Amino acid sequence: MSAQARGWAGEVDGYEAYYVPRFAPWVAAATEAVAGAELPDGPVLVPCCGTFPELDALVTTMPGRELRGVDLSPGMVRRARERGAAHAQVSVVEGDASTLEPQSAAAVVSVFGLQQLPEPDAALRSWAEALRPGGRLAVVFWPAVTEDDGPFAIASELVRRHVPPHDWSWQERLVPALTAQGLTVDRDEEPSYPISHPDAAEFFDAYTRSGPMRSLADARGAEFVAGLRREFLARAPQGRWEHRPHARLIVARAPVSSPPSGAGPR
Ligand SMILES: C[S@@+](CC[C@H](N)C(=O)[O-])C[C@H]1O[C@@H](n2cnc3c(N)ncnc32)[C@H](O)[C@@H]1O
Repeated sequence: MSAQARGWAGEVDGYEAYYVPRFAPWVAAATEAVAGAELPDGPVLVPCCGTFPELDALVTTMPGRELRGVDLSPGMVRRARERGAAHAQVSVVEGDASTLEPQSAAAVVSVFGLQQLPEPDAALRSWAEALRPGGRLAVVFWPAVTEDDGPFAIASELVRRHVPPHDWSWQERLVPALTAQGLTVDRDEEPSYPISHPDAAEFFDAYTRSGPMRSLADARGAEFVAGLRREFLARAPQGRWEHRPHARLIVARAPVSSPPSGAGPR
């Protein structure tokens, strides 16, 4: 299991309580992007579903459609299965979502998982290959820069002082990965919505206990986290903290007829 997925294993309740309500507008943007579309037969796959916040909107807008979440973290999968238990058409697979079975899906919808995968552009290519003719893809992820200031920006800047630089060059390869598979990219946008935190300390604690810094916090230990917390709070405003980060949304569709076999670079 990757460090990222391990990072979520013990903190499912914290993720669900703190992040799921705050990230809801981006989940809505992704699910709305496929909701009205005419789709081929087959399931909607939701790679990196986490606790499966995409589920309610998909069940409502696509009644009866098979929905299949995939996540690497057993804790997330358990919670996702609980969320889907009332719906016979919903299943959740525990496994690596970097590769999906070719030609297996009517649509692929994924929110805030792509940037966690070891090779996001290769994964997106596989997700494109998973679409049946006429299928749709809607993917939301956090890019390297989400805001100029605000808690995400400050946290990233502090972390960068302590870890080797991350290679974000894959971001430039996403659209080419889709068009090489014959997909048409309908939207490539940076949706931003307001997020509010009770204060800087609550933000930091959620970020390190059940958010993106969890695996680093586990790896480096309590003393490291305490030092980072001091640095973070020294830079943060007092009281409620509002910010407006932007993610990236890519919406694409597969051609109605299949590409000739062997087409498209690997
Ligand atoms: C930030 S959460 C997003 C969950 C959900 N889609 C949402 O919008 O709240 C990212 C999820 O990606 C999962 N993940 C990370 N690497 C993965 C992989 N290789 N395969 C499947 N899931 C993975 C993590 O376990 C985690 O549940």
